[in-house]
Amino acid sequence: MWNRHHKFERHSLWLVIGILVVVSIGGLVEISPLFYLESTIEKVKGVRPYTPLEQAGRDIYVREGCYVCHSQMIRPLRDEVERYGHYSLAAESMYDHPFQWGSKRTGPDLARVGEKYSDGWHVDHLTDPRSVVPESNMPPYAFLAAKDLDYRAIEAKLTALQRVGVPYSAAQIENAKLDLEAQTDPFAGATSDLRKRYGAKSRSGTSTAIPSGSPRWMR
Ligand code: HEC
Repeated sequence: MWNRHHKFERHSLWLVIGILVVVSIGGLVEISPLFYLESTIEKVKGVRPYTPLEQAGRDIYVREGCYVCHSQMIRPLRDEVERYGHYSLAAESMYDHPFQWGSKRTGPDLARVGEKYSDGWHVDHLTDPRSVVPESNMPPYAFLAAKDLDYRAIEAKLTALQRVGVPYSAAQIENAKLDLEAQTDPFAGATSDLRKRYGAKSRSGTSTAIPSGSPRWMR
């Protein structure tokens, strides 16, 4: 067996040919499954493009680097699923640009955090995480409370997302500002066309959950 190896060790051409053969087998094994990726992505009912307000919030999340500790690192392990809910599925991020999947996560998975706490809890937690979770090592983001949301470019954002494949309709882009404002208003939510455009589950803020004395952007 060692003698046969001589052929490769002594003649560089055979070595190169040998390397090419081995590398292309490895390459095929890695690359060919990608062609069948579509069939492996589970369809998830109810996944829709983000509303303009959700998109604006997501942009703040990306800007502030929340991803660094809360990346979508999927751990389909029993203790994680019992603690945080069902692990994320690929199709749930199909409209995410840029996606927030990663290989390291310090904080909890936030995919199912919706409705786990009141709005007031989130205000307290973002302002000073240790006021509600004493052992937390999450940094405070109190400055967010003093900043108003700048959504002047919201139509352009949705248009850009549409160009990379998010199926926003012309009506959704045209009414982006209206929809964004409607969703921040606890009373306009029910009467606006937001739900018609994004489905019955697109919620507006609930007036009771916003504590008095909360920062400007919550009111
Ligand atoms: C340095 C790491 C770090 C960064 C950066 C970070 N977090 Fe956290 N986050 C944590 C840790 C650790 C916890 C768990 C303890 C706690 O609840 O504070 C947590 C908890 C949370 C929770 C509650 C989750 C639950 O299920 O109880 C929310 C919501 C949250 N973070 C949102 C954010 C947002 C929004 C940002 C960006 C503005 C952010 N985090 C940035 C580390 C971080």
